[in-house]
Amino acid sequence: MKLRENIYSVRAVDGDLRVLHGYQIPIGTTYNAYLVLDEKVTLIDFVKHDFAAELIRNITEIIGDRPVDYLICNHAEPDHSGALPEIVRHYPQAVVYATPSCLKELKAYYPESSFEGVAVKKGDTLSTGTYTFQFIPMPMIHWPDSMSAYLVQEKLLFSNDAFGQHIGTGELSDREISLEHLLSRAGDYYANIVLPYSVQVGKLLGAVSGLEIDMICPAHGVILEQHLSRVVAKYSDWCENKTIDNKVVIIYDTMWGTTHKLAERLRAEYTEKNCEVEFIQLSKAHVSYAMAHLLEAKYVFVGSPTLNNQAMPTVAAFLSYMRGLKPKNRIGCAFGSYGWSGESITQINEALTACGFEMLDPIKVMWNV
Ligand code: FEO
Repeated sequence: MKLRENIYSVRAVDGDLRVLHGYQIPIGTTYNAYLVLDEKVTLIDFVKHDFAAELIRNITEIIGDRPVDYLICNHAEPDHSGALPEIVRHYPQAVVYATPSCLKELKAYYPESSFEGVAVKKGDTLSTGTYTFQFIPMPMIHWPDSMSAYLVQEKLLFSNDAFGQHIGTGELSDREISLEHLLSRAGDYYANIVLPYSVQVGKLLGAVSGLEIDMICPAHGVILEQHLSRVVAKYSDWCENKTIDNKVVIIYDTMWGTTHKLAERLRAEYTEKNCEVEFIQLSKAHVSYAMAHLLEAKYVFVGSPTLNNQAMPTVAAFLSYMRGLKPKNRIGCAFGSYGWSGESITQINEALTACGFEMLDPIKVMWNV
């Protein structure tokens, strides 16, 4: 699919995928790869292994028998690098440009593949004839090896995982979807993948702030052009853990209904205070859905009854998942019911405290309310 003269998307759409490294993605995803034609031909990023033949077919439909000369690998995670062995088998003369750690990871993942690698660092460039790529390392967005590539003459940023969204419904550009849908999917992605690396996102925003960018071409989801500035502004807020003062999320599970009643009381109380309340029962919704709604919430209520001296497994799993994603700057509150011991409320209180949240007094009731 042509993006501009000489610039194509050669991506694969994985619309049926529902789970990606433990994160539930309700409408699938895409693995975006881009082809840039110049005196030399450059392929930017690849696709998951299962889609390698489709990638090669997409490339050859554009360039026929012409070889690909350069491969820019922005990130070694297999959703992007999985097709590398097939690509270097098809284009054995192609040279791989990547960060030093990415090259090491590619060699470790694909020991049977033989290719020439060039390690790049901040400020290095690659000329393909009339075009110049600038490399911008962005460690930890998403792995230590990650980088972006900026195509100077076209003002395009190939941002890999940064600014992605898991949208596998076929749209190529943000012009084809509503702003609300775009921000919802970008936020879901940020909360579940990027949030722990918010400090690094701040550095990336600083590194690209001096660049003129007409289009961001991420490795997942739609290309950002019409709403580019809105997504960048959201990244700026999210990386600082800015929250919305009247946004409340109530995340809980229940056994015989008492913790549910407490959750309902909290919902009524905060709705009465003109708050926007999201209400999530973990036996009915995935932890990643809860995280997406926590992203901008100032108040985080987490509730569970006590089961065998523990929080319910759904709630314990959520707490573990949330702590790994390192949200900050919230107001937390533990709540729940119990029959005789009541450890769950203490455990939730400790977990939220360990996130650095400012804590409200726990809400704890025996048997029923
Ligand atoms: Fe989309 Fe970190 O891989």
